[in-house]
Amino acid sequence: MEIKQHPDTEELVLNINGRDVSMKVSAWTTLVDALREHLQLTGTKKGCDHGQCGACTVLVDGKHINSCLTLAAMQTGKEIVTVEGLANGDELHPVQEAFIKHDAFQCGYCTPGQICSTIGLLNMNKGSDAAELRDLMSGNICRCGAYANIYKVVEELKDRNTEALSKNSN
Ligand code: FES
Repeated sequence: MEIKQHPDTEELVLNINGRDVSMKVSAWTTLVDALREHLQLTGTKKGCDHGQCGACTVLVDGKHINSCLTLAAMQTGKEIVTVEGLANGDELHPVQEAFIKHDAFQCGYCTPGQICSTIGLLNMNKGSDAAELRDLMSGNICRCGAYANIYKVVEELKDRNTEALSKNSN
């Protein structure tokens, strides 16, 4: 039996990492699929595709969201930042530097999402104590169990100037 492909139906323009990019996607294309399959921005990972692992986390208008749970078409007119958009040339974002400093990863699969969630959390100016920090980061699963060092990153950065940390991220 012949399986028919659905035609691409929508011409979309999304602002991603500071520039407008156009693509032709189906109305039901999720943001993670638009990023990875249409724009080859594969830094954003797809783990569960059900909003449970956090691997697909990106920043939209400075807030961290699961890009598998939103349609690309819903994000027009917003500023989307992926892990590829955080560094300024060779200069890493402070959160990226802190992940390296604290060795806050092992295999690295969850790291882009962890970094975007950390930035989103800092933008929210929340996480006044360790328990709240852990709760706020609990949507990002790390199979390697690098949580202890990830929390060190968040704890170190939460008291720093969030404006500086937010640069390039919204
Ligand atoms: Fe989106 Fe797991 S892939 S939360």
